[in-house]
Amino acid sequence: MNWGKKDLLGISELSKEEILFILDSTESFKDISKRDIKKVPTLRGKTVITLFYEPSTRTRTSFEIAAKRLSADTINISADTSSYIKGETLKDTARNLESMNPDAIIIRHTMPGAPHMLARIIGSSVINGGDGAHEHPTQALLDLYTIREKKGQLDGLKIVIVGDIAHSRVARSNIFALRHFDTEIVCSGPPTMLPPHIETLGVKREYDLNKAVRNADVIMMLRIQKERGGTSFIPSTREYSTLFGLKKEHIEKAKQDVIIMHPGPMNRGIEISDEVADGPHSVILDQVENGVAVRMAVLYLLIGRES
Ligand code: NCD
Repeated sequence: MNWGKKDLLGISELSKEEILFILDSTESFKDISKRDIKKVPTLRGKTVITLFYEPSTRTRTSFEIAAKRLSADTINISADTSSYIKGETLKDTARNLESMNPDAIIIRHTMPGAPHMLARIIGSSVINGGDGAHEHPTQALLDLYTIREKKGQLDGLKIVIVGDIAHSRVARSNIFALRHFDTEIVCSGPPTMLPPHIETLGVKREYDLNKAVRNADVIMMLRIQKERGGTSFIPSTREYSTLFGLKKEHIEKAKQDVIIMHPGPMNRGIEISDEVADGPHSVILDQVENGVAVRMAVLYLLIGRES
C-alpha cells in the first residue's frame, strides 16, 4: 500500500485498510526497542518537534523516544516554556517553527481542530497528539495494536469503554477505529457523561457497569477529564467510584481472558482499583510499550519514505 499522506490528524479520516497498514507496519518496529542498541538510521537528518500546550507524560515521551530510536533530531516545546505565555498565537508559533524546516510537528492542544489548522498553513507533517475532546489518533492505534496482539484479531470482540466518554478524545478515536471491525462496542458511564446521540457512532449504551462488562473481551477505562469540566457532570467522585470504578467483581463477570486497558494517567481508587490496575488482566503497561512502536511506524510512514 502506498500511504501518501502528509499528516495524521484523526482516525476518522483513515480507512480500515490504512489502519491495518499502520498496525502491520508497527510489527517491524517493535523489536528495535528490545535490542541492546535501540537505534536504526531510518530518520537520520530529519527533525521532529513536539509542541505541547497540554500536560503529557506518555504521549510526548513516547514520540520523543520513537523519533530518537529512528535517529531523528528531536526538540520539545511545551506551552509553559514557550512564547505562548508572552502572547504569541499558535499560527505565528507554527510559522516560526516552520522557518526552521522541521520534518514533523506533533501538536497537543486544548482546542479541537488546532492540528488541522496547523496542517493547512505549514508544509511539515503534522501529527495530532490530542486536540481537546476531539481526537487522539496514535492512542487509538496503539490500543488497537494491543488488542490485536493480545486477542489475535479485532473481529468478534465485545469492547466496553467506561467513564467520561463525552469529554474523551481517546474514546472517540477508538470508536472511529473499532467500528471498522466486527466488534460490539458498549459505552458505560453516568448518563451525563454519555453523549445523547452516541448510538449514531455505532455503539451501544449501558448505564449499569455490571451489565456492560458481561462477557466482555476488552474493558477500556477512562479518566474523568477534570480539565474539560468532567467533575461537574457527577455528584461526587465517591459516588462515581462506587458505580463506575472497575473492581475485581466486574472482572469476574467478563470473559475469563478479558484484558483491562487504560490510556493513563490513572486515577487509582476512582475509575480503577489497585487490584485491577496491577492485576493479571491489566495490559496497561503493554499499551505504553506498544505506543513507542506505533509512533515509530507513524513517523516512518509520514516522513521516512521517499515519495
Ligand atoms: C490521554 C489524553 O491525554 O488524552 N492520555 C494519554 O494520551 N495517554 C487520556 C487522559 O488524559 O485521560
